[in-house]
Amino acid sequence: MSVFPAGTAPVKAEFLISIDPIAVPDDDAAEGSGGGGQSSRNGRDDPDANDGGGRNKRKRNKEEKKARQGQNKNRRFGKVRDEQDICFKIAAGTLCEFGAECKYNHDLQTYLAAKPPDLGMPTVDELLSASSGSEETKNVPNSQPARCPIFEEFGECKYGFKCRYLSAHIQKALSEDGTESPSLVVDEAKKAHAAISAKEVNYVGADTQKLLRTKKYVFPVTDAYLRELQEADKREQEIEMERKRLKEAERERREAEDSTVVTAEPEQKQDTLTEDKTVNLHTEIAADGLHPDVDTPDVPMRFAEKNRLDWRGKTYLAPLTTVGNLPFRRLCVSYGADITCGEMGLATSFLSGSKEEWSLVRRHPSERTFGVQIAGNKANTLVPTAEVLAKECGSQGGIDFVDVNCGCPIDLVFKTGSGSALLDAPAKLGKALIGMNKALGSIPVTIKLRTGVKDGRNTAEKLMTRAVGGGGESGWGIACITLHGRTRQQRYTKLADWEYIRQCVDAVRAREADEDLPPVPIFGNGDCFSSHDYHSAVDQYHVDGVMIGRGALIKPWIFTEIKERREWDINSRERLEGVKKLAEFGLSHFGSDTSGINTTRRYLCEALSFQYRYVPIGLLEVLPARINDRAPRFRGRDELENLLASPNSADWVKISEMFLGPAPEAFVFVPKHKSNAYESQG
Ligand SMILES: Cc1cc2nc3c(=O)[nH]c(=O)nc-3n(C[C@H](O)[C@H](O)[C@H](O)COP(=O)(O)O)c2cc1C
Ligand SMILES: [Zn+2]
Ligand SMILES: [Zn+2]
Repeated sequence: MSVFPAGTAPVKAEFLISIDPIAVPDDDAAEGSGGGGQSSRNGRDDPDANDGGGRNKRKRNKEEKKARQGQNKNRRFGKVRDEQDICFKIAAGTLCEFGAECKYNHDLQTYLAAKPPDLGMPTVDELLSASSGSEETKNVPNSQPARCPIFEEFGECKYGFKCRYLSAHIQKALSEDGTESPSLVVDEAKKAHAAISAKEVNYVGADTQKLLRTKKYVFPVTDAYLRELQEADKREQEIEMERKRLKEAERERREAEDSTVVTAEPEQKQDTLTEDKTVNLHTEIAADGLHPDVDTPDVPMRFAEKNRLDWRGKTYLAPLTTVGNLPFRRLCVSYGADITCGEMGLATSFLSGSKEEWSLVRRHPSERTFGVQIAGNKANTLVPTAEVLAKECGSQGGIDFVDVNCGCPIDLVFKTGSGSALLDAPAKLGKALIGMNKALGSIPVTIKLRTGVKDGRNTAEKLMTRAVGGGGESGWGIACITLHGRTRQQRYTKLADWEYIRQCVDAVRAREADEDLPPVPIFGNGDCFSSHDYHSAVDQYHVDGVMIGRGALIKPWIFTEIKERREWDINSRERLEGVKKLAEFGLSHFGSDTSGINTTRRYLCEALSFQYRYVPIGLLEVLPARINDRAPRFRGRDELENLLASPNSADWVKISEMFLGPAPEAFVFVPKHKSNAYESQG
């Protein structure tokens, strides 16, 4: 067995080139907490995205935009539109009611003549046989049988003549005058079937966004709850004043006593009693003033009516800003992920009707258990957001749970009191959660925590026992807790603290046993990278399951491994199948026209910027592989394995070209967690 420096992946001698590790990727920057406090939302900086936004939003966004611009400079994706554009009605193969008056181009023949050649969607076999002998694997336009992933899935391609895979669904009909006119093919049977099974859900339309933007959306549940909160606050203030008054009276009495030097035991007893009573009253209001089970007017809700989350032994794909987009989640589901969660959305942006934020709630029908994650700092933004979500998506069964982000380390989020800042504000968090529970009706509320804000000062245990305890059926009515075993301050280079996770789980279970409460599922999170990691966390650290973030980004097939309890030595061909799937899922979601392909390419490259980090386990001397091991330089078992392991971003673009055709010349991809070593690795 070769000798490796500690923390290096143990690659077998025959595959080893050098034990000097390659560049260390910066996961803190990827999440957004590194790199000078940049917003992690940069990846979504679509120059075309028109996310509207009211007055508040404009103000709030100033800072955010500034942070985004920094990175935009490094991101050049080339043009996202066709040279020549065409009226969308004509592109869809329909008539345009504006006829000659229409300001858009209606000349289909000219449009098609100027359009770049159609792309193919090669199978992996076709790609590999085409590449054998030549070192280049490329999508050669027109050389493959025509396939459009959208047409294949839906029996119809809504991008019509603008689709870059058009040859799969165009036919030429001969008109009476002998000229050929192109028309679009529709597979009616498939279309009817897909209408039921393949449609994405949770479209929150422009109408709703506008109502939100113009502050005309109505929030009956929120209004009633916030009033209730105000009254409770008032009562609390009154009690506080009473307490102060009594204290003052006590002080005066003592002073008088000191000067007269008379023993006054009976009196003293009486006063202490009064004080005790006040203290009791005070705690009663703090815990019960907002009775989780007392109905707010018009809001019948008992925690018993909440949908129960039976998540024991399930796999949970972590919410991942930018990279955890719908196509990626769909890929993970295809590998076996049971629970998926959308990217973090800001409560204030949902409430200002941001189109970009509302796009985050979209769900693919294959996502069996799907939640939306929101970040906010208190009841008056979190509760109304929950209320809109329940009304617009929940009523159609589009959301299975709503998760409150109590772990986001990003400065921009933390400074507003959201994300991990909530770890130090349990009273505020509790009020928000109780209100959200009311607003969401039967939809459960979950929370995702870090262990604390500062290293050495863990606070999660106290917060978790409080969340489930407190008398009655449940303190805050939380349906699941996920605990990421790191503080806000901790870098990804240091391993998650699973001992502390176990301590928290045990404390919650003890509390539940004491108070005869039903157990709340608890998921641990941090560094899970194999089937072994998953199952030993469940056995050793008492969690109900493990949430998986970077493990899924680096090897999306980890869900298959966990489900089948094996370590999968996946080969390069199988990995390329996964990349192709992701490309197709991207096209299906973002579109197969020029602009959709461009967006798909960006997200595909973002995904590949994690996947290259996978060291094939067949090359390792010791299993299981560990997430924090640095990869030495190695050679793969074939050319494709080498290509898939390349840290050079130009190679990721090259891989994207296999399925998405040539990238625009101006397309340069810089990953979010860029490290200086990337280019020199070439
Ligand atoms: C690129 C990236 C984006 C993330 N985005 C989110 C997010 O939107 N919401 C959230 O709660 N956590 C987010 N996280 C944290 C992960 O959900 C997870 O807690 C963390 O990566 C630890 O799990 P892991 O060790 O399995 O990666 C993000 C992490 C990364 C690396
Ligand atoms: Zn028109
Ligand atoms: Zn198409």
